[in-house]
Amino acid sequence: MFEANVSSLTDLPAHVLTEAQQRIQQDLLTALEAFSIPEPLKSAVHHTVMLGGKRVRPALCYATAAIQQNPNFAAVRRAAVAIEMIHCYSLAHDDLPCMDNDLLRRGQPTCHVAFGEDTALLAGDILQSMAFEILGSRLFDQGPMVDPSIVLKQMQILATASSKMVCGQVLDLQAEGKQIDRQALENIHQNKTGALISAAVMMAAVTVFKGTDPAIPKLREYAQTIGLAFQVQDDILDIISDTAVLGKTTGKDQQVEKSTYPALMGLEQAKVYAQELHHQAMAALSSFNDQAQQLSQITQFLLARKS
Ligand code: IPE
Ligand code: IPE
Ligand code: MG
Ligand code: MG
Ligand code: MG
Repeated sequence: MFEANVSSLTDLPAHVLTEAQQRIQQDLLTALEAFSIPEPLKSAVHHTVMLGGKRVRPALCYATAAIQQNPNFAAVRRAAVAIEMIHCYSLAHDDLPCMDNDLLRRGQPTCHVAFGEDTALLAGDILQSMAFEILGSRLFDQGPMVDPSIVLKQMQILATASSKMVCGQVLDLQAEGKQIDRQALENIHQNKTGALISAAVMMAAVTVFKGTDPAIPKLREYAQTIGLAFQVQDDILDIISDTAVLGKTTGKDQQVEKSTYPALMGLEQAKVYAQELHHQAMAALSSFNDQAQQLSQITQFLLARKS
C-alpha cells in the first residue's frame, strides 16, 4: 500500500505541499517587507528567499501542527518563515566559491553570481538574524499572545539546529576527497541537513504538545529519520537527476569527491537505504493514525521526489 501511494505521487507534488508553498510564499513576503534593508542587500535577500524551492521545511511545520487543533497557528507560521530563512541562508553560503562553488540554485544564478560574494555573504548573515527576530515577534498574531515559554523553546530548537548545520558543513568540506566510514558520514548528514529538517517538525511540535507528551519523542524519531533520508536522497539526485529538473548542477559531488552515500555504498544500495529510512519514518508516525496524514503525504512525496 505504501509503495502504491509513492508511485501515484511520483510526478506531482503532494497536495499538502502545494498548499504549504502558497502559504509560505505569502508569509515570507510579508516577513521580508517588515524589514528595512538597503540595496543591493534587499534584492539579494529576495533573490535567495523568494525564487522557488520546494519549501519542504515549512510544509513539515504546518503538517506537524495539523496533528492537533492548534490555537497558536501564528507561532507555527513564524516558525515556518524562520526555518525557511535559515535554510535559504545556508544555501547562499553553501554555494559560495569558498564552499561548494556552485553557479545554479533553484534554476537561477546563485546569490554570489547575481550579486557578488560580499553581498551573498551578507544576505546569509542577515537572514540568520532575521529568522530569530521573526520568531520572537508578533507577526501573524490574531488571538492571544503565544506563551513565551513556547517561543523560547522554538528559539532554542532553531539555534541548536543552525549550529549543527554549520558543524555539518565544516565536516562535509573536510571530508572532500577522503574515505570516511558510515558512522562519520551519517554524522555529517544528520548535522548539515537532518538538524534543520528535524527543527521544522519540533518547532511546530512544541506549539501543540507539552514536553512530557509521548508524541514528542515519536515526532523526534520521525524528524531525525526523515532528515537523514533527505540528504541521502539529495546525494542520489546529484547523480541520477538532470540539471534542468533539479535546478542545480548535477554531478558536482563526484567532481569534487564529496563523501556521499552513493560514494560509500554504491548508487543502488543508497537507494535501498533511502527507502528503508522512509519506511522507518512512516513507522514512527503510526501511533498518530489519521492525524498525521499530512506528514505521511509529505514523507511519500520526499521519497518520490525528482528535485
Ligand atoms: C537543498 O535543500 C540542500 C539540502 C539541505 C540538501 P532542498 O532540496 O530543500 O532545497 P530547496 O529549498 O528545495 O531549493
Ligand atoms: C547542503 O548540502 C547542506 C546545506 C546547505 C546546509 P549540499 O551541498 O549537498 O546541498 P546542495 O546539493 O548544494 O543543495
Ligand atoms: Mg554543501
Ligand atoms: Mg552544495
Ligand atoms: Mg547536494
